[in-house]
Amino acid sequence: MAGKDVYDIIHEKYDKRWKREELIVDADRFKTYDEVFDRQNLDNIFKLMKKGSIRTLECPISTGKEANVYKARTDEGFAAVKIYRTSNSTFGAFLDYIIGDRRFQKIDRSHRGIIYTWAKKEEMNLKAMVDAGIRAPAPHGLFKNVLVMDYIEYEGGPAPQLRVLRTEPDHWVEMWKDVMRTVKKLYRKCGLVHGDLSEYNILYDGKPVYMDVGQSVDKDHPRARELLKRDLSIISLFFQKKGVPGAEAAAMRLYSELIPAQISEEPPQNR
Ligand SMILES: Nc1ncnc2c1ncn2[C@@H]1O[C@H](COP(=O)(O)OP(=O)(O)OP(=O)(O)O)[C@@H](O)[C@H]1O
Ligand SMILES: [Mg+2]
Repeated sequence: MAGKDVYDIIHEKYDKRWKREELIVDADRFKTYDEVFDRQNLDNIFKLMKKGSIRTLECPISTGKEANVYKARTDEGFAAVKIYRTSNSTFGAFLDYIIGDRRFQKIDRSHRGIIYTWAKKEEMNLKAMVDAGIRAPAPHGLFKNVLVMDYIEYEGGPAPQLRVLRTEPDHWVEMWKDVMRTVKKLYRKCGLVHGDLSEYNILYDGKPVYMDVGQSVDKDHPRARELLKRDLSIISLFFQKKGVPGAEAAAMRLYSELIPAQISEEPPQNR
């Protein structure tokens, strides 16, 4: 699209208070620019604009398999908008992380219903984290598969993932302690296991910021222990490679602290 891009047009139409139908008419045109801008998603974005969660969409921050993330402008400053793809081939795997979570006992199992539940789960998990004092983007609005949250910024741009950060050994040690405290707090205070904790899902804005928690499950989920172990082993391996001594051993100790070995309680023998 030469000249104006899709974001300018969405902005312009909103500012001129054009009717929703007129925005939607452009869906096919926008779709060639970015496939998430189909009719349904434009409508969802527009709803969030009307609710006042965002004013305009700006540029894309990340385009992925499951979601696209955009920077947006709000009345106060900026926000990040995560749009989950509804045309998602991996969505079948989503059900594994939803079924067994006590918070989602009755759900719509249609394709779209599962994606909406996933976005709702991410919103709830982010809120629980922020309430527990964990550094995470606070959610500011959800409509179907579109989630608005704090925009995490560093040095004038979107915050980088931890994997691309270059810093001193002492700083890695300090951040590793933060990760361990966070995993513990997430488990004990929020009753959650991240489920995809890695150097990709921790951002850096001067300190670590924990995000991408759509898959995070409540600690009574049948897979919670396995996911906690996997999270701890993936993230400790990263810090170990960054030169943090004993990271892997410390992670395994934390696992045992959070999940004490089951003491089998044999019923007393009748004599
Ligand atoms: N609130 C935010 N502020 C700044 N950047 C963000 C924010 N949320 C996400 N991002 C950027 O977008 C990237 C992808 O976000 P996220 O990890 O939540 O999506 P994803 O589920 O991994 O998507 P996919 O698997 O499709 O890549 C992040 O690694 C980060 O770079
Ligand atoms: Mg991610």
